[in-house]
Amino acid sequence: MTHLSTQPYKGTRDYYPADKRVQNYIFATWRTVVESFGYEEYGAPTLEPIEVYQAKSGDELANTQTYAFEDRGGRTVAIRPEMTPSISRMVAARRQELAYPARLYSIANFMRYERPQRGREREFWQLNVDVFGVDNNQADSEIITIADQILKAFGATGDEYKIRINSRELINVMTHGYLGLDDTQAQAMIKLLDRKDKITRGDFDEQAAEIVGDKASEVLPKLDALLAADGFESLPSELKETAEAQALQQVFASIAANGVTSAVFDITLMRGLDYYTGTVFEVFDTHPDNNRALFGGGRYDGLVGLFGAEPISAVGFAPGGTMLENFLAVHDLLPENKSATAAYVVVIDESFEAANTLAAALRKEGVNVEVDITARKLDKQIKTADKKGIERVIFVGTKEAESGIYTLKNIVNGADQSLSLDQLVQELA
Ligand code: HAM
Repeated sequence: MTHLSTQPYKGTRDYYPADKRVQNYIFATWRTVVESFGYEEYGAPTLEPIEVYQAKSGDELANTQTYAFEDRGGRTVAIRPEMTPSISRMVAARRQELAYPARLYSIANFMRYERPQRGREREFWQLNVDVFGVDNNQADSEIITIADQILKAFGATGDEYKIRINSRELINVMTHGYLGLDDTQAQAMIKLLDRKDKITRGDFDEQAAEIVGDKASEVLPKLDALLAADGFESLPSELKETAEAQALQQVFASIAANGVTSAVFDITLMRGLDYYTGTVFEVFDTHPDNNRALFGGGRYDGLVGLFGAEPISAVGFAPGGTMLENFLAVHDLLPENKSATAAYVVVIDESFEAANTLAAALRKEGVNVEVDITARKLDKQIKTADKKGIERVIFVGTKEAESGIYTLKNIVNGADQSLSLDQLVQELA
């Protein structure tokens, strides 16, 4: 008989307790930061009709990356590859009842059929943070500020990441007004710029020439000037002086006032999703081993309106758990991976009743304790505590039960203390 594989499905991960502790730390930090800005948690279904993604998420995500299938009733559904269409649907459904600005967040898992590699999984987790009903750039600025605050909450310093910012409106001026492309050429150019960092400069130039055809001699030098620009200042003046560029500069001024120092303007940042209408941004790790976006987001004023409601403006972003974990690892920002159990009760001579009584008294005071119920030798019990990442053990036998004094031992440094129940609580709570 062939055995079933113990490997999880390709691109997905099993989370054993030590992995789950890291994940829980990330989720708890996300939650603390977004709740400090007044964001409220929501949840949404794992499945949506495929059309929800086909509408505006873009061909790549909707048609090549979704896990889509026909349900038993003949409807084509997809496992959610992202949250933005679901939360837009939910806002559209309750648009009258919601209080604006509606500040909403969720922490959920998603699936995308991608090639698994460092930083890319087929099942991954995202925090989604979105604000609905504000069309001025205070919303854009708040969202980017939260992205910055999240990294700082993990202990990152401003030079460990870059927030690259652009605007879809400015991109339109750039493709149509500045480069003089038609809609089809503009679309192709946006996709090409989006892939820019994944291909060689030679391939980029070749594909750019193909897109613009007989306009090449006129367009390509202009494209060169764009690629050479590393900020507003070095932008060609036809672009720098537009209203769109000035609007984006206001966002920069506002986040600077909020203490964001890692933001850079990048005219080549596109974002792959079709629904963005204004500011777009991505957070990048500056560490060379981690050359992918940690977070991505932007303004998408047209999505809620697709659900038959009047348009409601929206800005948001989503940090991914996979990339963030890599970020914390390469910058040495992960906390010590310790068990949430404060002490392991080592039972002498099968004194289970005494051990359980003590454990119950400790739990009542909010101390997490685990009792060894195996009746094994003491050294075996202590080894188990060590393997589980529990630093401290309490010895309980008949003598301890009678005297009410217990030995608490730190198995990492060997120190021990004789303590009453009250003192144990003080020490462990
Ligand atoms: P996205 O850029 O597709 O945007 O994903 C956001 C983040 O999720 C990425 O920066 C990355 O960290 C993580 N991520 C995406 N795909 C994978 C994957 N296959 N494996 C691991 N991590 C991944 C969105 O999803 C937009 N819906 C974000 C948004 C919210 N825009 C407005 N509100």
